[in-house]
This record gives sequence, structure tokens and C-alpha cells, in this order.
Amino acid sequence: MSTSIFDTITELPSEAAKESAQSLIGFEDRFNRVFNNLKLLVDTEGIRSWSEKHHGKVMPIVNRLMDKYPLIILEGDAGTGKTVSALGMADRITRELKKDGFFIKLSTRVRGEGLLGQMGNLVNEAFDKLKKEAGKSRIAFLLIDEADAIATTRSTLQMNQEEKSAVNTLIQKIDEIRELKGRAIVFLSTNRLHFIDEAIVRRAGVIVRFDRPSLDERYHLFKNDLEASGISDEDLKMLADISGPEHNNDLGFSFSDLRLRVLPEAIAKVYPDSPLTASVIEETIKQLTPSPKIK
Ligand SMILES: Nc1ncnc2c1ncn2[C@@H]1O[C@H](COP(=O)(O)OP(=O)(O)OP(=O)(O)O)[C@@H](O)[C@H]1O
Ligand SMILES: [Mg+2]
Repeated sequence: MSTSIFDTITELPSEAAKESAQSLIGFEDRFNRVFNNLKLLVDTEGIRSWSEKHHGKVMPIVNRLMDKYPLIILEGDAGTGKTVSALGMADRITRELKKDGFFIKLSTRVRGEGLLGQMGNLVNEAFDKLKKEAGKSRIAFLLIDEADAIATTRSTLQMNQEEKSAVNTLIQKIDEIRELKGRAIVFLSTNRLHFIDEAIVRRAGVIVRFDRPSLDERYHLFKNDLEASGISDEDLKMLADISGPEHNNDLGFSFSDLRLRVLPEAIAKVYPDSPLTASVIEETIKQLTPSPKIK
């Protein structure tokens, strides 16, 4: 198979990755959680000496920490930033650790292309590439995006033999990369954590949840993206309010709905003759409906 199975390959650090992460509401908190957990996985010697220093011995829990894997699961609703965050986090990890990085995004579209039986190969190939690219001063990241296609629980009745063996391969590969001691890190994103095989979920060093924006987050998104628009703070709050679940049948607009649908459409209405106003955005919000929730 050619390298076309990889959607994108990005050398890190990357200015573009950094910039897009900086525009994400809530990125900083999520990153810190991920990074603090990763440190425990990567720096085994450091943790041992920490325990000895502060507790007089290596506490049993310290050994249990090593049961986790350099696997980060990003889970949650559509359009909440999982895919962009994976790249942004990888970028930031390389910066924090003063290393270079190599980021591969694995395409899970194979399923749609009728290459069902090849999923095991695909996983093998992705991890081979990961190992090859990982080096002393270089961290290799793999994003298995929309992993539901590969990592679905083996107990699912409709699952055929090939799919089951792809899950087994994935588990085995995740086990193997522990040997690389933090030089290879896997992100797995999913809309449906409950479909992901328990053995994979259990291995995750950290599971990060992504939700649709809260009132406050919607306000901040509008405030950031509409900086210099001249729209008043009061109107920004109004826009945040009307795009929430209370005004939309219990389901608010997602980050991506607001950024990639509402605002562009509002701009399209006024461009090029008049300025963007709160009332045009308000009208657009009322015309559109939030993207459906994934169950
Ligand atoms: N936290 C956020 N703050 C601001 N914008 C965001 C945030 N999350 C997502 N977006 C916007 O939504 C777009 C889509 O995000 P992304 O593709 O990462 O979502 P996703 O969670 O991977 O969705 P899906 O489950 O459909 O793949 C981003 O390019 C960004 O513009
Ligand atoms: Mg995505």
C-alpha cells in the first residue's frame, strides 16, 4: 500500500498548528491535563525519585502508573475540536519538551472504500511508520481519527472476523509502543466512546472529553472571532444566549457550527456592501439549526 492511507503528515513544531490551537476555546486547560498525565508515563525514573523523596519509598501506585499507555483518547460530540486539538496538542508537546515531531493522521475512510479486510494491515502500516519516525529527539504522533471504524468493541454482534482482528492488532500495537518510552504517542478520536473496545479505553493514559460550548464559551468565541467588529458586549452576550440549547430545542450550536456555518453565512449576507452587524448574525442563527448530536 502507498502512503495515501495517511490523510496528512505534518512536521512539528508547526506555526500553523500552533495558531489554530490558539484560536480554540478551552485548549489550554485540556492541554495541561494531557501533558500532566503524559509526564507520568514518560518520566518513569522521575516519578520514582519523586516518590522516594516525598514518601520515603516507591509507593505501589507508582508501579501502577506504568500500566497506562501513551494513548490519549479525545471523545465527544461532532464539531467540538477533537481533530484540531490533536494536532495542536502534539505541536505543543514537542515545544514543551524541546523536541521535533512528526504527526501522522490515519485515514479511517478505508471502511467506506470497501477495504474492510485491510484494516489490520492499515493499523500495522501506521504503527510501522510511527516506529520508524520516532527518534531520540523526535516524537512521532499518530492520530487515529474517527476511530469508531477501527476500534469498535469486539463484543459487537455485527462485527466480522477481520474487524475483530483489526481491533486485536490495534491493542497489540498500542502495547508495543510502550517500549518507545514516550517517543511515540497515539491519539484516538471518537464521537462514541461507548462503542470503543474496553481494552483500548482501559489503556488510555488520559481521556479528554469535548462538549458543545457553554454560554460562556460561546460568548468567548464570538468575542474572539468578532474582535474589531464594533459589535457591543451586550450584543455578543445576546448572540451567545440565542445560540444555546434553551433556544434550540435543547441542543446548542457546536463550535464548528458557529465558526464554519453561522459566521461565514452572516458575512456572506453583508459582503461586500455593508458591515457585519449583530442583527445579521442573530437572523442567521435563527435561520440555521445546530448540527444533530451524535449518539
Ligand atoms: N474549542 C473550540 N474553540 C473554537 N473553535 C472550535 C473549537 N472546537 C472546534 N472549533 C471549530 O470547529 C472546527 C471543527 O473542529 P474539529 O474538526 O476539530 O471537530 P471534531 O470534534 O473533530 O468534529 P468531528 O467529530 O465531526 O470530527 C475547527 O476547525 C474550529 O474552527
Ligand atoms: Mg474530527
